[in-house]
Amino acid sequence: MTTPIVDVHDLEKTYGKAGERPYTALQNLNFTVAPGEFVGIMGASGSGKTTLLNMLSTLDTPTKGQVVVNGHDVTQMRGNQLSDFRAQEVGFIFQDFNLLESLTAEENIGLPLALTGTPSKVMDQAIHEVATTLSIEDLLKKYPAQLSGGQKQRVAAARAIVHRPALLMGDEPTGALDSTSARELLDLLTTINREQQMSVLLVTHDPFSASFCQRILFIKDGQIGSELTRGELSRQDFYQQVLNALGTFSE
Ligand SMILES: Nc1ncnc2c1ncn2[C@@H]1O[C@H](COP(=O)(O)OP(=O)(O)OP(=O)(O)O)[C@@H](O)[C@H]1O
Ligand SMILES: [Mg+2]
Repeated sequence: MTTPIVDVHDLEKTYGKAGERPYTALQNLNFTVAPGEFVGIMGASGSGKTTLLNMLSTLDTPTKGQVVVNGHDVTQMRGNQLSDFRAQEVGFIFQDFNLLESLTAEENIGLPLALTGTPSKVMDQAIHEVATTLSIEDLLKKYPAQLSGGQKQRVAAARAIVHRPALLMGDEPTGALDSTSARELLDLLTTINREQQMSVLLVTHDPFSASFCQRILFIKDGQIGSELTRGELSRQDFYQQVLNALGTFSE
């Protein structure tokens, strides 16, 4: 068996400071993501999807359990190891883009490389390569305020993959986009996933977005309640299956 890119074992996250009533958002949560796999995570609002991504990206720490990303046990890392991990192994696309308004698209995309002290020549080449993949060459000199939502999200996607992370994560990255831009972004994520064998973990409420995934995990009561695998189904047929599953689960 190949080593998974993500291996989550018995994960628990309980929120609450001393003296507060604790709230357990995730409990006994287990799953793996294979190299090059495109996995979706669905679940009701408040079911713990963002909490889970925060554990994977090391923005927050688990209460219990193990989270291994590309061979790194994130619960054992400290200080520089954590910042190196974030800078090298993971990429993140947010619903609200999170671009820095005072930087051009090009400077925003280069940020992950600038943070690791990449020489400017190497950086320029990486930025232009990724800009070609995402068809945003013409936008590089513009500031975020001069871009549409769809264009901003493509710049944000470029920033998330410019350092070629092992794992690309998105928390509702299509949530603020119109349907055309959403579709374009999902097609781009699919291309990047296929051509670069980058594993993708996509949190979404939206069955259309979920239908681009190869496998969907449904979080319920802080655990993976069930999963759907696309297999040989067309995207359209898988979409129907996701709709049916959501109907069944909500009854
Ligand atoms: N910092 C925090 N302190 C206390 N409770 C929290 C904290 N962050 C999240 N929670 C709680 O944990 C639960 C899971 O939250 P989370 O943000 O992971 O949900 P979600 O599935 O991403 O929801 P949505 O679909 O609305 O984004 C919620 O009940 C939330 O109120
Ligand atoms: Mg969330």
